[in-house]
Amino acid sequence: HMMSQLSGMQQKEKKLADFFEIERCIIVSGNSDEDPKVLVEFGETVTDALNTLLPKGENIIAVMGGTTMAGVADNMHSWASEQQNNIFVPARGGLGEAMNIQADSVSGMMAARTGGRSRPLYVPERVSKETYASLLQEPSVQEVLALIDRATCVIHSIGRAMYMAERRGMSEEELDMLAANGAVGESFGYFFDADGEIVYKIPRIGLQLKDLKKVPFVLAVTGGKSKSQAIQSYMKHAPCQTWLITDEGAAEEILKGK
Ligand code: BG6
Repeated sequence: HMMSQLSGMQQKEKKLADFFEIERCIIVSGNSDEDPKVLVEFGETVTDALNTLLPKGENIIAVMGGTTMAGVADNMHSWASEQQNNIFVPARGGLGEAMNIQADSVSGMMAARTGGRSRPLYVPERVSKETYASLLQEPSVQEVLALIDRATCVIHSIGRAMYMAERRGMSEEELDMLAANGAVGESFGYFFDADGEIVYKIPRIGLQLKDLKKVPFVLAVTGGKSKSQAIQSYMKHAPCQTWLITDEGAAEEILKGK
């Protein structure tokens, strides 16, 4: 019988994929809360997954930022030459992250590591509504927004809500509102409560949660025991084609009692 032929880890991967109703789950060993080597494995796993999934030719790959994504980018390796026509773009405008973990930096790094190209999205964080509106008229910004719209692949991570809100310098008022609404997880600038309900959204341009459904390949890369609740809060929104790449720390905590 099929289950008995699978290794312990493969059984967990299948269980987790079934539980989240997604296409596939890959669990790497370790717990990224304590073990930075998990990021090396994430980088290799993402490279292999893209090599397997993406059709030959020019793919547009939209990526998010964060420390996990930056670690993935750092640990990606070069691709087969037929896979080197890919264009990496940031999936959304700036979300108030430090420079080295912004989506722009991550997409630039991924392109450099894999032999592809990247296009930055120059939309600063704190500008007036008027400036913002006129920036959106800029041809260079519109060009990248059009690329995001045609993305065939999205790679993103998932964070803990309150931690992410503070890291991004959200106001006291916003922090109070998130806490009052029970926000536990965050991805793409959307905040979710434990039931997966959206309780807040940072208004930024680029990819929106509802757009994910039409993207053929979606990789969610996130680990650490401390993120298990955050991961579950987002996963209710993950489209069924999602591949979740995570670690034992998160997977075991999520599967507890299931
Ligand atoms: C990003 C997501 O990729 O990673 C975020 O889009 C998420 O919205 C973040 O919160 C997590 O960051 P980190 O540093 O925990 O990897």
